[in-house]
Amino acid sequence: MLKLSKLATAVALVVAGSAAVAGEVEVLHYWTSGGEAKSVAELKKIMQAKGHVWKDFAVAGGAGDNAATVLKSRVVSGNPPAAAQIKGPAIQEWAAEGVLANLDATAKAEKWDELLPKVVADVMKYKGNYVAAPVNVHRVNWMWANSAVLKKAGVTSTPKTWDEFFAAAEKVKKAGLIPVAHGGQNWQDFTTFESVALGVGGTKFYNDALIKLDEKALTSATMTKVLETFRKIKGYTDAAAPGRDWNLATAMVIQEKAAFQFMGDWAKGEFSAAGKVPGKDYICAAAPGTSNAYTFNVDSFAMYKLKDAGAQKAQGDLAASIMGTEFQEVFNLNKGSIPVRLNMKMDKFDDCAKTSAKDFVDTAKSGGLVPSVAHGMAIKPAAEGAIKDAVSQFWNDDKISVADGVKNIAKAAATK
Ligand code: BGC
Repeated sequence: MLKLSKLATAVALVVAGSAAVAGEVEVLHYWTSGGEAKSVAELKKIMQAKGHVWKDFAVAGGAGDNAATVLKSRVVSGNPPAAAQIKGPAIQEWAAEGVLANLDATAKAEKWDELLPKVVADVMKYKGNYVAAPVNVHRVNWMWANSAVLKKAGVTSTPKTWDEFFAAAEKVKKAGLIPVAHGGQNWQDFTTFESVALGVGGTKFYNDALIKLDEKALTSATMTKVLETFRKIKGYTDAAAPGRDWNLATAMVIQEKAAFQFMGDWAKGEFSAAGKVPGKDYICAAAPGTSNAYTFNVDSFAMYKLKDAGAQKAQGDLAASIMGTEFQEVFNLNKGSIPVRLNMKMDKFDDCAKTSAKDFVDTAKSGGLVPSVAHGMAIKPAAEGAIKDAVSQFWNDDKISVADGVKNIAKAAATK
């Protein structure tokens, strides 16, 4: 294995025709669905064009839960990958272990401080030093809808409130189709849950209950309303949802089997990969009641400390490429997200991306910009895991009363 990779490095050097050190870069990620794989292939291409050898380390599993477990075992055994897709407070936790490489040289040369929104730059830094490179901005509080299904069911406008949503869902059900495409992992349940919390309770409630984990907010009448609404949505999903991957749920909407899906805009990557056009084949709209808010989810790569000079060079080039204009455009066109780099031209992007870019800026000013809990942007992994489990238990077990659901979630939020 070792010999082979050395040989590959040597070949890459010859191909690149450069005397500069090239290296192998092993990249741990979880982008394995159709749209995701197309997106990450662009990064591989850019790195190969720079003469580096890309060692793909894809660990399937939406939202990266499986990848996080594999990463831990690799780092603990003293054999970390060159780069890994991690985000939010997890970046800080890894940095505190002293295993992440300092990216300041690249960040300074490439002027990251000027090119990134401060809210994003802060997450990428540990004690003032850059330790991760941001890729994109995903919006999580989206609702996707199939235009033909809505038409068939006689739904004439996109629901903007939860009442309108349930009226539409009822029509879809009567037309013999599945109102809500849903999958079966706790992060998928929570993706829906946090949109409901935001739509029913508003930004202040979202911040108090889900970010500050304030007990009063967590046990309030608003939380009761949130769980009632959440449970009502479940009634419009199909019986085969448990265990289903998110992209298969998106496929149900694409294939006109289901009307709606609550999912972040990586779902748009699936619509795009299937050749579907927003505004015509499908609709992207903020989840009911959330058009003035924005749950953000920033993908990023942290680099692990490695001794090999070639690998270090490759890490620097990877970080610089990720923030470069070429990658920011082509990757995000495929991924469904928007560039994280400021002042990028948006003319090649579709209307959903343009709405997202505008809302990102507007909500940052209005206070409606909040980190996604479902996607690891807000709270420490231990509390996040516990709350997700409590929410999923409630979702999966109709015998748990709303009052008990509220109690269980509040108890889980106290996990240290
Ligand atoms: C990530 C996305 C990914 C999605 C599904 C999210 O947490 O931020 O990049 O496409 O999970 O795996």
